[in-house]
Amino acid sequence: MTRLTSWHRLNRRICPSPLDPIRHPLLTQQGIQLWIKRDDLLHPQISGNKWRKLKYVLRHALSEDARGLLTFGGAYSNHLHALAAAGRQLPLATVGLVRGEAGSINNPTLSDARAWGMALEFVDRQQYRLRHTQAYLEQLAYRYPGYRIIPEGGSCSLALPGVAELWQELPPIDELILPVASGGTLAGLLSARPAGTRLRGYAVLKGKDWLAETVHRLFPDALQDPGWQLQLEHHGGGYAKCSAADRIAIAQLADELCVPLEPVYSGKALLGLFRDIAANHYAPGSRLVFLHTGGLQGARSQHNSKRSGRAK
Ligand SMILES: Cc1ncc(COP(=O)(O)O)c(C=O)c1O
Repeated sequence: MTRLTSWHRLNRRICPSPLDPIRHPLLTQQGIQLWIKRDDLLHPQISGNKWRKLKYVLRHALSEDARGLLTFGGAYSNHLHALAAAGRQLPLATVGLVRGEAGSINNPTLSDARAWGMALEFVDRQQYRLRHTQAYLEQLAYRYPGYRIIPEGGSCSLALPGVAELWQELPPIDELILPVASGGTLAGLLSARPAGTRLRGYAVLKGKDWLAETVHRLFPDALQDPGWQLQLEHHGGGYAKCSAADRIAIAQLADELCVPLEPVYSGKALLGLFRDIAANHYAPGSRLVFLHTGGLQGARSQHNSKRSGRAK
């Protein structure tokens, strides 16, 4: 049995996610057709955009006989959680560099990651900021020889082809809408955007000055592509910030649509989409798909973080 056999086994278990029509009075009133692509249902642990982004990164790591995988994330990171789950299944050793102090953080995300064998190393904010610098990455490569280092959020060039495969599961539509943070999912979708389908990314953080550049860096052809845009006004105050009123609006939307949502990614972006539809930013007759990128595991930690003041 080669190391790749376990990857093929995992890959075979992952079926196309459902594409569900959404009914809502606002959509009827505005003459919009909306479907939701339920990537949150792709896999119990490696869900949402995580499997799509990690798929070929993992295959490559196995094929080059990597000793393990090392990555970065916040204490509630869906990416850390998914990588730990994938590492356990393949199996591949995993290391997570977590922003924060060991003693002050314990939550379901990190407990799962630990239980699945991920070695967690806590680093302060100052050190965490170094995660893109060559010298720091070289230091880590020295400390963890043979480990493949995966950027925060899993957004790297090898993430693009796995994300691009999503188009094979969609019918012809006018626009695909998705939450955006580190830009890898948007870049992957842009790399195979069908002519005639636009992409609109809802930034879930304050990305005004740098987010488009991040997408260009991951997929340089995006610079000349007029078929996409970023919505930068719905970040709600910044990453993982959400007012009490927006929290209620997201919970109400989840009830009305019978779709589980969380306030950091899918809920924040979908609320932004509904507000933009109400403000006539989408033409009547449009056929839209909203990509549910998962992240529901993080919502388990939301209750704790609300108490600790993380999400306001
Ligand atoms: C659940 C979820 N949705 C959306 C995103 C944003 O995707 P990206 O970082 O590729 O822009 C993330 C972060 O990776 C995420 O965890």
